[in-house]
Amino acid sequence: MKLENEHILLREPVIADAPFIPKNLDTVAFRFVPLPQPHSKKDSIEWIQKVRKENRNKRTYQFVIVDKKTKQLVGGMGLHHMSKINNKCEMGYLIYNKLRKKGIGFQAGQLVLELAFRKLKLNKVSLQIDIKNKASQALARKLGFFREGRLKQEYFRNGKYYDAFIYSIFKRDWKQ
Ligand SMILES: CC(C)(COP(=O)(O)OP(=O)(O)OC[C@H]1O[C@@H](n2cnc3c(N)ncnc32)[C@H](O)[C@@H]1OP(=O)(O)O)[C@@H](O)C(=O)NCCC(=O)NCCS
Repeated sequence: MKLENEHILLREPVIADAPFIPKNLDTVAFRFVPLPQPHSKKDSIEWIQKVRKENRNKRTYQFVIVDKKTKQLVGGMGLHHMSKINNKCEMGYLIYNKLRKKGIGFQAGQLVLELAFRKLKLNKVSLQIDIKNKASQALARKLGFFREGRLKQEYFRNGKYYDAFIYSIFKRDWKQ
Protein backbone atom coordinates (compact mmCIF):
# COMPACT_ATOMS: atom_id res chain seq x y z
CA MET A 1 0.00 0.00 0.00
CA LYS A 2 1.15 3.54 -0.79
CA LEU A 3 -0.08 6.92 0.40
CA GLU A 4 1.03 10.09 -1.29
CA ASN A 5 0.54 13.77 -1.95
CA GLU A 6 2.44 16.19 -4.18
CA HIS A 7 5.55 16.22 -1.93
CA ILE A 8 5.79 12.94 -0.04
CA LEU A 9 5.28 9.23 -0.54
CA LEU A 10 4.51 6.80 2.28
CA ARG A 11 5.46 3.24 1.34
CA GLU A 12 6.34 -0.03 3.05
CA PRO A 13 9.97 -0.23 4.21
CA VAL A 14 12.24 -2.51 2.15
CA ILE A 15 15.53 -4.13 3.19
CA ALA A 16 17.44 -1.64 1.01
CA ASP A 17 16.29 1.12 3.44
CA ALA A 18 18.20 -0.47 6.33
CA PRO A 19 21.54 1.39 5.98
CA PHE A 20 19.82 4.81 6.01
CA ILE A 21 17.80 4.38 9.20
CA PRO A 22 20.55 4.20 11.90
CA LYS A 23 22.29 7.29 10.45
CA ASN A 24 19.17 9.35 10.94
CA LEU A 25 18.28 8.48 14.52
CA ASP A 26 19.24 11.24 16.98
CA THR A 27 19.01 11.66 20.76
CA VAL A 28 15.46 13.07 20.52
CA ALA A 29 14.31 10.01 18.58
CA PHE A 30 15.93 7.67 21.14
CA ARG A 31 14.39 9.67 23.99
CA PHE A 32 10.81 9.51 22.78
CA VAL A 33 10.52 6.42 20.57
CA PRO A 34 11.16 2.89 21.90
CA LEU A 35 14.14 1.98 19.70
CA PRO A 36 17.15 -0.27 20.39
CA GLN A 37 20.07 1.96 21.29
CA PRO A 38 22.64 1.98 19.76
CA HIS A 39 20.75 1.16 16.58
CA SER A 40 22.65 -0.99 14.07
CA LYS A 41 21.88 -1.89 10.47
CA LYS A 42 20.92 -5.34 11.81
CA ASP A 43 18.35 -3.70 14.14
CA SER A 44 16.88 -1.87 11.15
CA ILE A 45 16.68 -5.08 9.11
CA GLU A 46 14.86 -6.80 11.98
CA TRP A 47 12.46 -3.84 12.29
CA ILE A 48 11.77 -3.87 8.53
CA GLN A 49 11.10 -7.63 8.51
CA LYS A 50 8.76 -7.28 11.49
CA VAL A 51 6.88 -4.36 9.94
CA ARG A 52 6.46 -6.16 6.61
CA LYS A 53 5.07 -9.24 8.36
CA GLU A 54 2.69 -7.23 10.56
CA ASN A 55 1.54 -5.15 7.58
CA ARG A 56 0.96 -8.32 5.52
CA ASN A 57 -1.26 -9.65 8.30
CA LYS A 58 -3.08 -6.30 8.46
CA ARG A 59 -2.11 -6.00 12.11
CA THR A 60 -0.39 -2.69 11.36
CA TYR A 61 -0.14 -0.10 8.59
CA GLN A 62 3.42 1.18 8.95
CA PHE A 63 5.31 3.23 6.40
CA VAL A 64 8.56 4.99 5.72
CA ILE A 65 8.21 8.52 4.39
CA VAL A 66 10.10 9.50 1.21
CA ASP A 67 10.66 13.05 -0.04
CA LYS A 68 9.58 12.87 -3.69
CA LYS A 69 12.04 15.56 -4.79
CA THR A 70 15.22 14.23 -3.15
CA LYS A 71 14.09 10.55 -3.04
CA GLN A 72 15.50 10.44 0.50
CA LEU A 73 13.88 8.74 3.50
CA VAL A 74 12.68 11.46 5.85
CA GLY A 75 10.99 9.40 8.58
CA GLY A 76 8.37 6.86 9.42
CA MET A 77 4.71 6.86 10.41
CA GLY A 78 1.92 4.39 10.84
CA LEU A 79 -0.97 2.75 12.61
CA HIS A 80 -0.63 -0.12 15.07
CA HIS A 81 -2.53 -1.82 17.92
CA MET A 82 -5.48 -2.21 15.56
CA SER A 83 -8.64 -3.28 17.36
CA LYS A 84 -11.29 -4.55 14.97
CA ILE A 85 -13.67 -5.15 17.88
CA ASN A 86 -13.45 -1.58 19.13
CA ASN A 87 -12.83 -0.03 15.72
CA LYS A 88 -9.77 1.92 16.82
CA CYS A 89 -5.98 1.95 16.66
CA GLU A 90 -2.87 3.82 17.77
CA MET A 91 -0.58 5.99 15.68
CA GLY A 92 3.18 6.57 15.80
CA TYR A 93 5.54 8.96 14.01
CA LEU A 94 9.16 9.99 13.62
CA ILE A 95 10.65 12.61 11.32
CA TYR A 96 14.43 12.60 10.94
CA ASN A 97 16.30 15.30 12.78
CA LYS A 98 17.34 17.73 10.01
CA LEU A 99 13.92 17.64 8.39
CA ARG A 100 11.77 18.51 11.39
CA LYS A 101 9.60 21.64 11.58
CA LYS A 102 9.08 21.75 7.81
CA GLY A 103 5.51 20.48 7.85
CA ILE A 104 6.38 16.89 6.82
CA GLY A 105 4.89 15.38 10.00
CA PHE A 106 1.66 17.26 9.37
CA GLN A 107 1.41 16.22 5.72
CA ALA A 108 2.17 12.57 6.49
CA GLY A 109 -0.26 12.66 9.43
CA GLN A 110 -3.06 13.86 7.20
CA LEU A 111 -2.44 10.97 4.78
CA VAL A 112 -2.35 8.40 7.59
CA LEU A 113 -5.56 9.76 9.17
CA GLU A 114 -7.24 9.61 5.78
CA LEU A 115 -6.26 5.92 5.62
CA ALA A 116 -7.59 5.33 9.16
CA PHE A 117 -10.92 7.08 8.74
CA ARG A 118 -11.77 6.85 5.05
CA LYS A 119 -10.31 3.51 3.95
CA LEU A 120 -10.24 1.51 7.21
CA LYS A 121 -13.37 3.24 8.52
CA LEU A 122 -12.07 3.34 12.09
CA ASN A 123 -13.84 5.37 14.74
CA LYS A 124 -10.90 6.48 16.87
CA VAL A 125 -7.12 6.95 16.60
CA SER A 126 -4.98 7.54 19.70
CA LEU A 127 -1.41 8.56 20.41
CA GLN A 128 0.57 8.06 23.60
CA ILE A 129 2.98 10.97 24.12
CA ASP A 130 5.59 11.62 26.82
CA ILE A 131 4.54 14.80 28.68
CA LYS A 132 7.98 16.29 27.93
CA ASN A 133 7.53 15.79 24.17
CA LYS A 134 6.29 19.24 23.11
CA ALA A 135 6.91 18.66 19.38
CA SER A 136 4.76 15.54 19.26
CA GLN A 137 1.96 17.23 21.22
CA ALA A 138 2.07 20.23 18.85
CA LEU A 139 1.83 17.95 15.81
CA ALA A 140 -1.01 15.94 17.36
CA ARG A 141 -2.99 19.14 18.11
CA LYS A 142 -2.39 20.44 14.60
CA LEU A 143 -3.74 17.18 13.18
CA GLY A 144 -6.92 17.59 15.25
CA PHE A 145 -6.19 15.31 18.21
CA PHE A 146 -7.38 16.40 21.67
CA ARG A 147 -5.84 15.54 25.03
CA GLU A 148 -7.94 12.74 26.47
CA GLY A 149 -6.08 11.68 29.57
CA ARG A 150 -2.87 11.11 31.47
CA LEU A 151 -1.08 7.86 32.30
CA LYS A 152 1.02 8.01 35.45
CA GLN A 153 4.66 6.87 35.44
CA GLU A 154 4.34 5.28 32.02
CA TYR A 155 7.96 5.65 30.89
CA PHE A 156 11.20 4.91 32.74
CA ARG A 157 14.18 6.89 31.46
CA ASN A 158 17.58 7.60 33.01
CA GLY A 159 16.45 6.54 36.45
CA LYS A 160 13.16 8.53 36.45
CA TYR A 161 9.51 7.82 35.66
CA TYR A 162 7.58 10.11 33.30
CA ASP A 163 3.85 10.46 32.70
CA ALA A 164 2.28 10.20 29.25
CA PHE A 165 -0.67 12.01 27.72
CA ILE A 166 -3.18 10.18 25.57
CA TYR A 167 -4.22 12.23 22.56
CA SER A 168 -7.16 11.03 20.46
CA ILE A 169 -9.19 11.94 17.43
CA PHE A 170 -12.61 10.61 16.40
CA LYS A 171 -13.80 10.12 12.85
CA ARG A 172 -16.70 12.51 13.46
CA ASP A 173 -14.25 15.32 14.35
CA TRP A 174 -11.73 14.64 11.59
CA LYS A 175 -11.42 17.50 9.12
CA GLN A 176 -9.83 16.31 5.90
C1 LIG B 1 7.09 15.00 16.60
C2 LIG B 1 7.64 15.13 15.18
C3 LIG B 1 7.26 13.86 14.39
C4 LIG B 1 7.03 16.37 14.49
O1 LIG B 1 7.31 16.31 13.10
P1 LIG B 1 7.55 17.64 12.22
O2 LIG B 1 7.66 17.23 10.79
O3 LIG B 1 8.68 18.41 12.79
O4 LIG B 1 6.18 18.44 12.47
P2 LIG B 1 5.61 19.63 11.58
O5 LIG B 1 6.75 20.38 10.95
O6 LIG B 1 4.58 19.09 10.66
O7 LIG B 1 4.95 20.55 12.68
C5 LIG B 1 3.61 20.38 13.14
C6 LIG B 1 3.33 21.44 14.20
O8 LIG B 1 4.11 21.15 15.36
C7 LIG B 1 4.89 22.27 15.71
N1 LIG B 1 6.18 21.82 16.23
C8 LIG B 1 7.06 20.98 15.61
N2 LIG B 1 8.15 20.81 16.38
C9 LIG B 1 7.94 21.56 17.49
C10 LIG B 1 8.70 21.77 18.67
N3 LIG B 1 9.93 21.21 18.82
N4 LIG B 1 8.18 22.57 19.64
C11 LIG B 1 6.97 23.13 19.50
N5 LIG B 1 6.19 22.97 18.40
C12 LIG B 1 6.68 22.19 17.41
C13 LIG B 1 5.08 23.03 14.42
O9 LIG B 1 5.41 24.39 14.67
C14 LIG B 1 3.72 22.84 13.75
O10 LIG B 1 2.75 23.71 14.27
P3 LIG B 1 2.41 25.14 13.53
O11 LIG B 1 2.27 24.84 12.08
O12 LIG B 1 1.17 25.56 14.20
O13 LIG B 1 3.58 26.03 13.80
C15 LIG B 1 9.19 15.29 15.20
O14 LIG B 1 9.53 16.35 16.06
C16 LIG B 1 9.93 14.03 15.66
O15 LIG B 1 10.17 13.15 14.87
N6 LIG B 1 10.29 13.95 16.96
C17 LIG B 1 11.07 12.80 17.47
C18 LIG B 1 10.27 11.51 17.48
C19 LIG B 1 9.00 11.64 18.32
O16 LIG B 1 8.97 12.32 19.32
N7 LIG B 1 7.94 10.94 17.88
C20 LIG B 1 6.66 10.96 18.55
C21 LIG B 1 6.60 10.00 19.68
S1 LIG B 1 5.01 10.13 20.50
